[in-house]
Amino acid sequence: MRTKPEMMGQLRPAFSELNISEGFEFDTEIVTNEIKEDCKPLLLSNEQLTTLMKDMNDAINKGLSKDTNPSSVVKCYVTYVQDLPNGTERGKFLALDLGGTNFRVLLIELGENNYFHMDSEIFKVPEYIQTGKGTELFDHIAKCLAEFVKKHNVDSTVTLPLGFTFSFPLRQVGLTKGYLNSWTKGFNCSGVVDEDVVRLLKEAIRKRKDVEIDVCGILNDTTGTLMSCAWKNPNTKIGVIVGTGCNACYVEKVENAELFDGDSSKPYVIINTEWGAFGDDGKLASITTKYDREIDELSLNAGCQRFEKMISGMYMGEIVRLTIVDLANQKKLFEGRLSDQMKTKGAFGTSFISDIESDKANYKETLKVLNEMGISDPSLVDCANVRYICECVSRRSAHLVSAGLAVLLNKMNEKSVTIGVDGSVYRFHPYFHKLMVEKTKQLANPDIKFDMMLSEDGSGRGAALVAAVAVRDELPKMNGVAAV
Ligand code: BGC
Repeated sequence: MRTKPEMMGQLRPAFSELNISEGFEFDTEIVTNEIKEDCKPLLLSNEQLTTLMKDMNDAINKGLSKDTNPSSVVKCYVTYVQDLPNGTERGKFLALDLGGTNFRVLLIELGENNYFHMDSEIFKVPEYIQTGKGTELFDHIAKCLAEFVKKHNVDSTVTLPLGFTFSFPLRQVGLTKGYLNSWTKGFNCSGVVDEDVVRLLKEAIRKRKDVEIDVCGILNDTTGTLMSCAWKNPNTKIGVIVGTGCNACYVEKVENAELFDGDSSKPYVIINTEWGAFGDDGKLASITTKYDREIDELSLNAGCQRFEKMISGMYMGEIVRLTIVDLANQKKLFEGRLSDQMKTKGAFGTSFISDIESDKANYKETLKVLNEMGISDPSLVDCANVRYICECVSRRSAHLVSAGLAVLLNKMNEKSVTIGVDGSVYRFHPYFHKLMVEKTKQLANPDIKFDMMLSEDGSGRGAALVAAVAVRDELPKMNGVAAV
């Protein structure tokens, strides 16, 4: 009979100090050597990360420069957001947030003394719409907006300013004009790539004839995150998302953003790096595992977003599942027994990683997850092995983000920077923040001070703040927004 983890757990302490100092959050002692060996490619040394940083820095510089941008995989899109909020913004704003499986409509009120009120509603974007016709996607968005406005009795006699958080690679040519470069994260609607997304939204709304809005800004979720943190903490100069996708933006000097053709009397502009595409030119080949290759090959956007696919929530669970399946097939896990669920693509959600890594010494959560995945009788060693795989995958993810952040910190070379962070992986993984802070400290120049701050709903609040800045620009007397 196989030994139940609960019983074994009582025989020995499962979390020893010794192993915590190795950087793992639990006792890796009982993890089998062959599993450790097989997981080695997932563990990145500082040397590997430093090489990656150099390549990423080159890629960002290539993206910023006019001559090299067309051939750069990291596009460094100019956002045209040049002003950060200072907390004196006022008014009511609508916001749309499209970027993952859910689409949200928000009504936001900004008032005195950091007064903030938000009503929001989540609408599903069914898979057939995510991969259907673009016109259907925008009709769906317009319909949800109309429903929301009606339900929340939004005054139809005033045209509310609207900020649109559109979290995909967008080549912006102004604050309210942006052409989709490519879809990511499971979206693949036809007829949208190379089109102005704001025009498509406006057309869908105009067709309905039941809502009046004024699109004041289109932004990325990273920009929203930066803005929403800056509203509380003006030192925020980087926004990063580790959620379904992964990306970062930062405050750059206008003179370095060669493609910027906006107001050069203002010294700074936010750059949306779209670093998820880093490695699409092969720069990540030396650290790519067979599981990463499989994920990429079977994805909707093969060959694209290679960095993102090693990091983000859309893929992390699947990396763990592929690893488990491979090792079980080699009889290194579960005595070679696998369930149908475990063999099913996408069945191991990234939230399972957080559950497993939140576990205490008795492996209760790990057991629960494995049972849910149809593995009914794992041994203690199986549980420890599965947890080890999860830790390797999430550590790699956190360390890759850290390397990217260290590049941005070193590049900006400011004495002190607050990094606004959002995304489900960062929010729900028990150690992600800690892993990121530790590794970024090791990789960034030691004289740069930084802290990481969880953004409070950057996609919604940030959209309202971008709209607020735009309204301010139209009505100079409403001045109250500080330059970056
Ligand atoms: C998109 C980015 C976005 C990130 C996080 C990526 O797939 O390309 O625009 O910021 O996901 O949502």
